[in-house]
Amino acid sequence: MSNQHNQEKLSSARFSESTDAFVEAFTASIQFDKRMYKQDIQGSIAHAKMLTKVGILNQQELNDIINGLQQIEAEIAAGNFSWSIKQEDIHMNIEARLTQMIGITGKKLHTGRSRNDQVATDIRLYIRDEIDAILPELKRLQHGLLSIAEREAATIMPGFTHLQTAQPVTFGHHMLAWFEMIKRDVERLQDCRKRVNTLPLGSAALAGTTYPIDRHYTAELLGFERISENSLDGVSDRDFAIEFTHFAATLMMHLSRFSEELVLWSSAQFQFIDLPDRFCTGSSIMPQKKNPDVPELVRGKTGRVYGHLMSLLTLMKSQPLAYNKDNQEDKEPLFDTVDTVKGSLRAFADMVPAIIVKKEMTYEAAKRGFSTATDLADYLVGKGLAFRDSHEVVGLAVAHGIKTGEDLSEMSLQTLQGFSDKISEDVFEVLTLEGSVAARNHFGGTAPDQVRAAVARGFAELA
Ligand code: ARG
Repeated sequence: MSNQHNQEKLSSARFSESTDAFVEAFTASIQFDKRMYKQDIQGSIAHAKMLTKVGILNQQELNDIINGLQQIEAEIAAGNFSWSIKQEDIHMNIEARLTQMIGITGKKLHTGRSRNDQVATDIRLYIRDEIDAILPELKRLQHGLLSIAEREAATIMPGFTHLQTAQPVTFGHHMLAWFEMIKRDVERLQDCRKRVNTLPLGSAALAGTTYPIDRHYTAELLGFERISENSLDGVSDRDFAIEFTHFAATLMMHLSRFSEELVLWSSAQFQFIDLPDRFCTGSSIMPQKKNPDVPELVRGKTGRVYGHLMSLLTLMKSQPLAYNKDNQEDKEPLFDTVDTVKGSLRAFADMVPAIIVKKEMTYEAAKRGFSTATDLADYLVGKGLAFRDSHEVVGLAVAHGIKTGEDLSEMSLQTLQGFSDKISEDVFEVLTLEGSVAARNHFGGTAPDQVRAAVARGFAELA
């Protein structure tokens, strides 16, 4: 490697012996924080421009710094950068290389800042970039849910409570329930972005700096909407990382519930859907198997994101102001959260529009569980019975159906009239599955017309 800059540690004059080799490795973060190299360079270029604006660097020095940093970025991107554990982290690796390249000017870059505000800035830039990559994936998933809801607006399936058949619903309505969950996730992430988008740079180590810095200018260069208002808080705040991980944990909880239903529905016992083969794998021993690996894995990965949220909360709970080395432990949970969310979302956004619904099976299943019993009870209320009495009457009719194997809609008028003389020919309109879902025709209800209206609203929101 040409760029050996790992001989000597930066700022080591105070020490009378060199760091223990194990401690050096133990305290280093370069193995994982190198992921933020682009943001570190972006932050340094903005900082150097600000230092030039206020007269601390001259134009030539600025040009050298920018050229050097751009070259370093290219080296890292090409895999030609030699990382050094002696330089501990991404900030010092880059600074050491810059100094090796451009000499003394490289050593001036760190004027008026500290790694404490530098790292806080880098993480914010990094999460902001990731939020901007995650938002379109969430929208892609929402889009897929709307398109399947539209396609299956009138498809009938059993709706469940306690996983027991309750009332018929439309498949589209069920898809829209998932759409609502993801919509809230989008709102949460957009809200989190506002607090991520705050500039801590200028807080320096903890107390601010004696140089005449212009933080507003740096914020403008980096696209930050606001500037942290207290230097102690600026370097030590990781609330934004916790908020992001909380968003992620909630999203994963939603995807996990979603996964659970897909796994159940694609089983031989339910047979409500087929997942396309490209999202499934076989078994090494049982030739007939087609396993729903993607939803199972997403359900499983939810646990690690919950764990990361707990790690970050615990990381912060006992830290006195301001920066502590503990904070270095924020990165791995955060990075793994980003990877897990992006992977899970990508899989779901690809898979959802390709779900194949087995309409005859969902219809038959809705028929099997006396799912229109509530409709019969409501019908009797309409004929003058008190609801509790009609509930009782329908209970008797269901008990009869369990014995004979008939659905309510399959019983003769005579049989039904045996339970209540209020029943007449018009009862069959409410006992059909189509009649049952069509009757729930109000905002937020399961009727096909309501599903189509909600789909239209959803597409308009996404546009
Ligand atoms: N690698 C450190 C971190 O991730 C950077 C800040 C180090 N600051 C310090 N005073 N040791 O937090």
